[in-house]
Amino acid sequence: MAKYRIAWLPGDGVGKEVMEAARIVLDGLKLNAEYIHGDIGWEFWCKEGDPLPKRTTDMMKTTQCALFGAITSKPQKEAKEELIGELKTKNLTYFSPIVRLRQEFDLYCNERPNIAIPGNPLNLKENINITVFRENTEGSYAGVEFGPVTDDLKKAMVKDAPKMKMFMDTPADDIAISTRIITRKGAERIIRSAFEHADKFKRKSVTLVEKPNVLRKTGGLMTEVFEKVAKEYPHIDSWFDNVDAMAMWLVKSPEKYEVLVCENLFGDIISDLAGQLVGGLGFAHSGNIGKEYAVFEPVHGSAPKYEGMYKVNPMATFLAAKMMCTYLGEHEIAAKIQKGVEITVKEGKVVTYDLGGKAKTLEVAHEVVKNAMK
Ligand code: IPM
Ligand code: MN
Repeated sequence: MAKYRIAWLPGDGVGKEVMEAARIVLDGLKLNAEYIHGDIGWEFWCKEGDPLPKRTTDMMKTTQCALFGAITSKPQKEAKEELIGELKTKNLTYFSPIVRLRQEFDLYCNERPNIAIPGNPLNLKENINITVFRENTEGSYAGVEFGPVTDDLKKAMVKDAPKMKMFMDTPADDIAISTRIITRKGAERIIRSAFEHADKFKRKSVTLVEKPNVLRKTGGLMTEVFEKVAKEYPHIDSWFDNVDAMAMWLVKSPEKYEVLVCENLFGDIISDLAGQLVGGLGFAHSGNIGKEYAVFEPVHGSAPKYEGMYKVNPMATFLAAKMMCTYLGEHEIAAKIQKGVEITVKEGKVVTYDLGGKAKTLEVAHEVVKNAMK
C-alpha cells in the first residue's frame, strides 16, 4: 500500500495538462503515493448542475490532501445557458468550487510564497522572498450579500450603522450590499499562522496589510488582534501598512518585506501583485491549509484558449506539488523539486514560451526531473 492517498483534481482546460506534468515529476521523484481522481469543474456544472459533486468531497475525506489544477468559471448568465436541458429550469447558482473547498474543509490559511528563482528573466528583482498569508474562509468571500435590499433590511441596519441613512431612499433594486465579515477567531488564526511561519523560518518581519482608517470596524479588529499576537513574538519585527500604500511599496521596495498577513480579498489582490514580482502566473502557487486537510494549487486559471496545446508553464504546479510534499513531511522530494525547477529556469534551455522558450508543458516536466536528480 502506498504511504499517502492524495486527491487528484485536474479540473478544466490546461489544469489537466499541468497536472499531467506534475505526475511526471512526482512519479519521477518517487513520491510513495496513490492518486485518486476527483470530478471537479465546468463539465460537472453543465451535466450535473454542480461543479463540485458530493462524491468528490466524500472521496477527499479519505485522503491526506489534494492537488488541484484549474477551473473554468463564467458569469451567472452564461453559466445558466450552458446547463443541459432539464437543469436549465432548476434555478441553480454557480459557486466557485475552490472557494467552496476552502470553506467546506475549513482551509483558513492560504499560504502563497513568492520567491525569486535566481536567473528567472521575469523577476522584477532578484532578492525577493515574500510569503503572503491570506485568510481564506471569511471577509468578502463569506458570500453574505444582499440585493435587492429590502426596507426591512435597511431599517435593521440603520439602527447600528447610522450611515445607512444615506441610502434609505434608494429603491431596493438599485442598491446591492456585499459584506466583509471578520471574526476574532478568523483574524487570530491567520495572524498566528503568519507569526508561527516567521518564527519557524527565521524571517525578520511580519506586516499586516489593512485599511483601518476607512474600514474601522473590521480593519480595527484585525489590527487589534495583530498587535496582541505580535507581543508574543518580540524578536520578530512587526508593523501594519495600508493596502493601497502596500501596492506601491511592493513594486518599489519588495526586498523590504518578508511575511505579509491579510484578510481574504486584500490577500487575493496583494498576493497576485507579489506573484507578478517573481514570474507571474507561470510560477504563482499556493497552499490552502487547515487543521485537518490541505489543497495545493497553481494560481492560474484554466486558460481555455490554450487548451489542448500543451504550451503553458507547469512550474507553478510543480511548486504547488513541492508545497504538498513539505506538508506531507517529504522534505527530500520537496528540495529536489525546488532544485529541478531552479536549474531548469536558470539554464533556460527547456522552458515554455513565457520564459522565451519553445518547450511544451510535458517536456518541461521531464527536464525538471532530470535536473532534480543531478
Ligand atoms: C485565487 C483565485 C480565486 C479567489 C478565484 C478563482 C475564486 O483568484 O485563488 O486567488 O479569488 O480566491
Ligand atoms: Mn486570486
